[in-house]
Amino acid sequence: MYFVIFAKVRWRTDYLVIGSGVAGLYLALKAAEYGEVLLLTKDKASESNTAYAQGGIAGVFSSQDSFEAHIRDTLVAGDGLCREKVVREVIREAPAVIRDLMEYGVQFDRDERGELLLAREGGHSHPRILHNRDATGAEISRVLLEAVRNHPRIHLWEGFFALDLITQHHLGIYVNRGYPGITCYGVYALEEATGVIWTLLARVTVLASGGAGQVYPVTTNPPTATGDGIAMALRAKARIANMEFYQFHPTALYEPDKRPAFLLTEALRGAGATLVDPIHHRPFMHKYDPRGDLAPRDIVARAIDTESKIAGTPFVYLDARSVPNFPERFPTIYEYCKSKGLDPTETLLPVAPAAHYMVGGIDTDEVGRTSIHRLYAVGEVSYTGLHGSNRLASNSLLEALVFAERAARDSALVLKDYSWQEDVPDWDPRGTRHPEEMVLISHNLQELRNLMGNYVGIVRSNFRLERARRRIALLYDETEAFYAHTYPSRALFELRNLIAVAYLIVKCASIRKESRGLHYTLDYPQKHPKLIVDTLV
Ligand code: FAD
Ligand code: SIN
Repeated sequence: MYFVIFAKVRWRTDYLVIGSGVAGLYLALKAAEYGEVLLLTKDKASESNTAYAQGGIAGVFSSQDSFEAHIRDTLVAGDGLCREKVVREVIREAPAVIRDLMEYGVQFDRDERGELLLAREGGHSHPRILHNRDATGAEISRVLLEAVRNHPRIHLWEGFFALDLITQHHLGIYVNRGYPGITCYGVYALEEATGVIWTLLARVTVLASGGAGQVYPVTTNPPTATGDGIAMALRAKARIANMEFYQFHPTALYEPDKRPAFLLTEALRGAGATLVDPIHHRPFMHKYDPRGDLAPRDIVARAIDTESKIAGTPFVYLDARSVPNFPERFPTIYEYCKSKGLDPTETLLPVAPAAHYMVGGIDTDEVGRTSIHRLYAVGEVSYTGLHGSNRLASNSLLEALVFAERAARDSALVLKDYSWQEDVPDWDPRGTRHPEEMVLISHNLQELRNLMGNYVGIVRSNFRLERARRRIALLYDETEAFYAHTYPSRALFELRNLIAVAYLIVKCASIRKESRGLHYTLDYPQKHPKLIVDTLV
């Protein structure tokens, strides 16, 4: 319940960073070398996809491995759409950024001689995943967050929800996609505790707001992953790329209605776990790919989909009984499974795919610049070309770090050329009131997720996409009508944002008339040699 409605507050900062996952935290630390940083986050700062990352971060640290091998694996997974220059540079920069993380205090597992322990995951030809047992993201988040909290030039504001990017549109100018030089002056943000809408003016704005797994009924992503950054960018007319590629993680623990779904890291398969069919408990992955259980995720997720349909069960099993030292190496998973009455060292674990990672995103250049002037995007919200049409496991924490550092360095060169746009008006809430029936929001959200699960999941078709498109249009109309007379709230904006994400996924999927990477459609089951192009909106 809000007590203050029409209070208005302004703030000026050099850098405005939205999001407290790995991308936002690391960028804030690097940008603070050049200016004052305001870091906004809508929940507790510790809540993010980053905090849930299990497997680890990929980088070449072994003499048996090579940059070329990591590059090749990334390009193979990306299935023709990776930007090769980006791939080569990010992978070569990996050891340096990972060492920098260690300097901040991030601990990775080592053997008794102090050598880094490297795990293997799907699509990787060598063990190259640095990890902190099965809770790598929590370790990274903890260390970076502490550094941010202690930094004198970083202000961390928790419970602040970024509503919209401020551009010329808010100065009363008609801005369409063809408008030259769309510029970002900051954001409007809702302080949840008071209901106050702030006008936050920045020289440079950075979206580090993560993915959108909450658009699907089953997801490994926490409730914060509602695609706010993508939706804000869409409304501000930024260029967005390749949203048809939504990655489903093959092995979330099957628990009906559990949100978020609990992940069983791919590193389990790297350590010897095997997928088996639900009836005879026989391994099946070798039927689908010579790499077997360590094939890239799209292949494994589709194989699970097929096997569970053949068996008529909503899951298959993961047999992890042969994984050495399970309780010590994977303590989070061990404890969670035990709490559900499943002992992974003795029983098969039911698993099903879950929406996991938004491969497409706001299109950026090689330093994180978007098509909007003074707006950068880093981390899962961005599309840099590293992942192409399918992300190689454990490449995303890496991408977030490399691009956060690049964006901070690039924007520092131009920071002083930009001043604050003082004539931006405050948010005008006239004509709106608090909603009497929040249930409208939850019903529409439920409908949206169900239709995305039913029609826009792992296997698609023209017919299913068209059904989805019509239903999303209806939800859009209803929700926008409600929004027109309703005072902003986080729940309402998250719904609007998820509708925008669903629209983008369906739109991009309808444009791609082939099956490639994570996009598989029954109407065009083959790759089309002429379609090695990004889908741009
Ligand atoms: P996030 O970490 O999601 O952070 C986004 C932040 O933005 C959050 O703090 C959120 O609250 C905030 N935010 C969003 N919208 C707003 C708004 N409107 N206003 C204010 N704040 C906002 N990747 C790997 O490389 N290796 C792994 O082992 C791995 N394991 C994973 C396991 C799980 C269960 C999940 C879910 C993901 C995993 N990933 C892994 C993917 C990886 O964790 C994410 O891609 C990465 O952490 C994204 O970082 P980010 O900083 O871009 O976004
Ligand atoms: C996992 O641990 O399986 C997730 C790794 C990733 O998403 O990169």
